[in-house]
Amino acid sequence: MNNDIEQVLYSQEEVNQRIDELAATLTAKYQGEFPVVVPVMTGAMMFATELMKRLPFKLNIDYVDVSSYEDNSQSSGRVRLLRDLSHDVNGRPVLIIEDIVDTGHTLQFLNKLFASRGAKSIETCSLLDKPARREVEVNADYVGFEVPNEFIVGYGLDYDGLYRNLPYVGILKRSVYEN
Ligand code: PRP
Ligand code: MN
Ligand code: MG
Repeated sequence: MNNDIEQVLYSQEEVNQRIDELAATLTAKYQGEFPVVVPVMTGAMMFATELMKRLPFKLNIDYVDVSSYEDNSQSSGRVRLLRDLSHDVNGRPVLIIEDIVDTGHTLQFLNKLFASRGAKSIETCSLLDKPARREVEVNADYVGFEVPNEFIVGYGLDYDGLYRNLPYVGILKRSVYEN
């Protein structure tokens, strides 16, 4: 599996250090706010687990699972909700956890969904941001690292369901997905 990686962008140590910093920022912001924290499955699983361990304040953990699909007719219609929240977010601060913001469609869909349910506030913390690929105007409020427009895997990010368990963030070799 490691043989399929062209270049390690962020080592496990670098990711852990950045997560410490993000956790400190979030703790200053959310202390006493009692947010619902919402990792987006499956990509955010590893980052969310590491991050939430470092948040020493009252919160609820929930999650959603969404899937994107191509639909040229409607930009927001490209995302489908596969698993909904079990918490009512009406009047509650919501903190979305993502592994990466790419085109932005997933995040835009979730922002609209939680806003329609009366969330008190909605923010996103994403391990990675790939602004070069953005198609809709949406951004994460807290970002670990900005990444180049390459095929990124590891730390939750997959190619065809693989590489999510790599403990670092890397660029996938072209030979793996080109033939
Ligand atoms: C990936 C990633 C983000 C989303 C970002 O999830 O984990 O959730 O795409 O892309 P976008 O900004 O273009 O919407 P994916 O839908 O591949 O599902 P996964 O998390 O199960 O891999
Ligand atoms: Mn995802
Ligand atoms: Mg994926």
